[in-house]
Amino acid sequence: MAGFLDDIEPLKQTALTELKNAPDLAALEQTKGAWVGPNGKFTALMKQLGTLSKEEKPAAGKLINAAKVELETVLVARREELELKAALPKEPTDFTLPGRRRALGKLHPLTQVTDDIVRAFRKIGFAVADGPEIEDEYHCFDALNTPADHPARDAQDTFYLNTTDKRLLRTHTSSVQIRVMKSQPPPVRIIVPGRVYRRDNADATHNPTFHQIEGLYVDKNVTVGDLKGTVEFVFRELMGSDVKIRFRPHYFSYTEPSYEIDFTNALVKKMGKDWLEIAGCGMVHPQVFENVGYDPETWTGWAFGFGIERIAMLRYGINDIRLFYENDAKFLKQF
Ligand code: DAH
Repeated sequence: MAGFLDDIEPLKQTALTELKNAPDLAALEQTKGAWVGPNGKFTALMKQLGTLSKEEKPAAGKLINAAKVELETVLVARREELELKAALPKEPTDFTLPGRRRALGKLHPLTQVTDDIVRAFRKIGFAVADGPEIEDEYHCFDALNTPADHPARDAQDTFYLNTTDKRLLRTHTSSVQIRVMKSQPPPVRIIVPGRVYRRDNADATHNPTFHQIEGLYVDKNVTVGDLKGTVEFVFRELMGSDVKIRFRPHYFSYTEPSYEIDFTNALVKKMGKDWLEIAGCGMVHPQVFENVGYDPETWTGWAFGFGIERIAMLRYGINDIRLFYENDAKFLKQF
C-alpha cells in the first residue's frame, strides 16, 4: 500500500509537467491519452485500486481522485491556451499593407477630385493642413488685409453666427493661411482642402456651401514663375497634358500682384468656350506677412484658391452643382 500511494505523487507531477509543456493541441491530446486514456499510466494506477484491501481503498481512492481533478484542470487550461495560440496569425500583422477593396459604395466625386489634387501636390512636396469652418473675423478677413468696410464682410455675403464675438462660417479657406503661418516659422508649403460657406442662393452654378483648395508657399526668392509652373503641373496631372493656363491681373487684398487663373483644354473647347476661370492667386501681400510675424524683407510667397466643384464639373461634364449634394445613388454610381 505504501508503495502504491508513493507512486501517485511523482506520476502526477510528471503528467502535469508534460501537459503544461505540450507544444500544440495534437501533442496535448496525445499526452492526455498517454496518462488518462484507456491504456494510460494513470488509468493503470486506478485499475490497481481493486487490488487494495478494504481499509486501504478509501485513502488511495481519495488521493487518486484529487490527482485526477488536478490533471483535468491543467489539461483544460493548457487546451485553452493552445487554442488561443492557434487562432492568432502566424506572422505579425503588417498594418502598412494596403487595405482590401471596398465591398460596398464609392467615394463621392468631390472626394475623388480632392484626393487627386492632393496627390498631385504631394508629389511636389506640399503637406495638407486643416482649419476650423467656424471662424472669426480676424482669421477670415482682418489678418488677410480685408478692411472692415469691404463688401466681402457684408452680412449679405457672409453667414454670421448668433454670437456676441461675431463668429462666422468661413467664406474661403484663405483663413487657414493665417492659422498655419501663425503656428510655424517659414518656410511653408501647404494645401488646404475644405468646406466654405457663402450666402448664395442655390442655382446651377452656386450653392451656399462648396469646397475649395487653398495653397500657400513661403520661402526665399519665390516667384510668379514658380506659381504658374506649379498650377500648370497640377492641372496637367488632373486633366491631361493638353491643359493650358493663363493668368489675368485681378485684385485680392491679401496678394500683390493678384491674378485670376484661366484654364483651357479640349473639354473647354467642346463646351464652346475659349477659357474657363478656375482660381484666384497671387504673391502674398507684405502686410499679411507682417500680420503673422514673418519678415517681408526676407520671405516671399504665393497663394491660390481653387473651387473644387468647378473642377469636378469640368472633369466629369456636370452642368448643375446641386447634383453633388442630392445624394442620388443613380448620379453617384457613375463615378
Ligand atoms: N479666397 C479667394 C476666394 O475665395 C481665392 C483666393 C484668391 C485665394 C487669391 C488665395 C489667393 O490664396 O491668393 O475667391
